[in-house]
Amino acid sequence: METFNSSQPANNQSRIVILRWGHRAQRDVRLTTHVALTARALRASGFILSDVTDLHIEETITKITQVWGGDFRFEMGTPWKTAVRDWKKKGGVIVHLTVYGENIQTSDVMQRIKMANKDVMLLVGSQKVPGEFYSEEVSDFNVAVGNQPHSECSALAIFLDRYFEGKELDKRFEKANKFIIPKERGKTVKEY
Ligand SMILES: C[S@@+](CC[C@H](N)C(=O)[O-])C[C@H]1O[C@@H](n2cnc3c(N)ncnc32)[C@H](O)[C@@H]1O
Repeated sequence: METFNSSQPANNQSRIVILRWGHRAQRDVRLTTHVALTARALRASGFILSDVTDLHIEETITKITQVWGGDFRFEMGTPWKTAVRDWKKKGGVIVHLTVYGENIQTSDVMQRIKMANKDVMLLVGSQKVPGEFYSEEVSDFNVAVGNQPHSECSALAIFLDRYFEGKELDKRFEKANKFIIPKERGKTVKEY
């Protein structure tokens, strides 16, 4: 299986890849799928389901990408330590989304992440994450989307929207088979 590589971003366009840690078979299938769908819709470049495999999630994300387009890469089974080590080795930064982190609104953490101008791997948990996630060896930034516990899906969406400053919402998806014409009422879907 091809794995993600991080390097200095071309054309000042940093890539963001999500690493989902701690997925529990059965219990987390729907939420992990939603985390991946959110990542894709908000223009992350890819998604790593670390340490475990789940063919159902892979199939869902692959089908959505085939129909609706985009260059979204899905990888699974990679041990999180390997993914983080390889990402750092290639010059990318690691951002850990955690309720205990620097507040995205009241600190300058987002500014510092952008100033780094590097590809970003975003770690999101499900169950309690290993303590190492908070250490300098793993995360370059620990970011809280408000210091109240909520959901990985909402934390991810808000982070991406702030990182891309809303511009991700009007970008065209390349290689799509279908697209939606937005309208006040009803549904219009066109095929390419
Ligand atoms: C629903 S939480 C569960 C956390 C787990 N119960 C624990 O004690 O660590 C799952 C994930 O959502 C994300 N998350 C939840 N609240 C967050 C917040 N306020 N800011 C950033 N990320 C958050 C984190 O990535 C966390 O690992």
